[in-house]
Amino acid sequence: MAKLYINERKKQSHINPEIYGQFSEHLGRGIYEGLYVGEDSPIPNVKGMRKDVVDALKEIKVPVLRWPGGCFADEYHWMEGIGPKEGRKKMINTHWGGVLEDNSFGTHEFFELCEQLGCKTYINGNVGSGTVQEMSEWVEYMTFGGVSPMADLRRKNGREEPWKVDYLGVGNENWGCGGNMTPEYYGNLYRRYQTYVRDYKKGEHIRKIACGPNVDDTEWTEGVLKTCFTHSPSHAHGFMDGLSLHYYVHPGGWQHKGSATQFDETEWYKTLNKALYMEELINQHSALMDQYDPDKKVGMMVDEWGDWFDVEPGTNPGFLYQQNTMRDALVAAVTLNIFNKHSDRVKMACIAQMVNVLQSMVLTEGPRMVLTPTYHVFHMYRHHQDAELVESWLQGVEEVGVMRTQVPSLQESVSVDKDGVITVTLANLSVESAYPVDLVLTETAPSQVEASILTGAMQACNTFDEPDVVKEGKFEGVTVNGRELSLTIPACSVISLRIQ
Ligand code: AHR
Repeated sequence: MAKLYINERKKQSHINPEIYGQFSEHLGRGIYEGLYVGEDSPIPNVKGMRKDVVDALKEIKVPVLRWPGGCFADEYHWMEGIGPKEGRKKMINTHWGGVLEDNSFGTHEFFELCEQLGCKTYINGNVGSGTVQEMSEWVEYMTFGGVSPMADLRRKNGREEPWKVDYLGVGNENWGCGGNMTPEYYGNLYRRYQTYVRDYKKGEHIRKIACGPNVDDTEWTEGVLKTCFTHSPSHAHGFMDGLSLHYYVHPGGWQHKGSATQFDETEWYKTLNKALYMEELINQHSALMDQYDPDKKVGMMVDEWGDWFDVEPGTNPGFLYQQNTMRDALVAAVTLNIFNKHSDRVKMACIAQMVNVLQSMVLTEGPRMVLTPTYHVFHMYRHHQDAELVESWLQGVEEVGVMRTQVPSLQESVSVDKDGVITVTLANLSVESAYPVDLVLTETAPSQVEASILTGAMQACNTFDEPDVVKEGKFEGVTVNGRELSLTIPACSVISLRIQ
């Protein structure tokens, strides 16, 4: 019998809502078709944004949206995406599928989308192929309220008031698609570019994010931190508010990542094992960050994470369109639990990507839309946003899976919100075994418990013809006895409990 001990009195760290963030790039059908269809589309829209998709995303409380890339960010020239649409430059999106980019979704459209979603804004600037002036003028265009060439241009384009940029990424993957730089070279460029990212409005700070490592590249982390923190006595935080980390999960190698829907148990466990590796990565890079920033003022921003499988057969390989099964749901569940547990350092995470690309929340086909198993996990976990992580530990958990890719059968995180409601999210990684679990609270004898569950066969997914195969449902199997709650968690499932 597994036991989950919860010390709800011991608050450990604040769970920044941005940990539940999203990423959307000019890639495949992520923006065009998925989010933006234009005002003249027969698909119901508000100012060009798909109404069905925006309405669905509002339900998961998207806290922040990162845009325009990804690799696209370091090829993006923002001036091509402003002004009358018919005059906007057309270009080929060479990085992603070689399709026409007509720039009809640009800065104004991004802020409109964020306004509709009610989320914070994360702009990723161009260091790889852009100039300091270009980045600095973009910031002026977006955020300056006075008289200036860029603010006046914004007004000419129909927007009187400046917008709020909450986060600004200074380049993306500059160790790779963003310029193939060395960490020291990038570190120096970072120092320079960020200097001209001005805070124009009193009291409104744009939080600046430096490009961090790929997976376990600690040399990059160390090189960037060393360069940015050295000789900066007046900038004790190395000129940055955040350092990014990118990590994608696939059971095969980069060449053969494996099918998103056709996999066996070995691949199931291999995938989950790789997802759990996120914790080791956070520990590794955090240890380095602690050396420069022991007070944890600089956030680790995992601004790209998720499953990356082979594209759906018959689709453009450059579009990264993949289905989403219960395996993705479990990957999301365990990863979000890890982020919660490391919320002292992890201040933001953006799953890649929000719609139609990689591990999406929503898939679309013409006017149709389906919510993925991953979407339901984000919905079940939404109560963790802005809550306090509390101490919890599992006892009596067996290892499941095959040889070197074994994983713990159960994994959890627990938080308490400002009204004192406790949220427990519990994942069962086993494909075949259900487990009875006793939850033991330290002082709360619950008077009310609500629970929901997401479960299904490991390959179960939602399709346009059968959109509700995997769906969050009410879970009735909780019994309460004083400070103890008992339940049996079915194989291959995620449970969320709200306890008060
Ligand atoms: O999310 C897809 C791509 O993965 C991004 O453009 C890039 O930053 C990463 O390599």
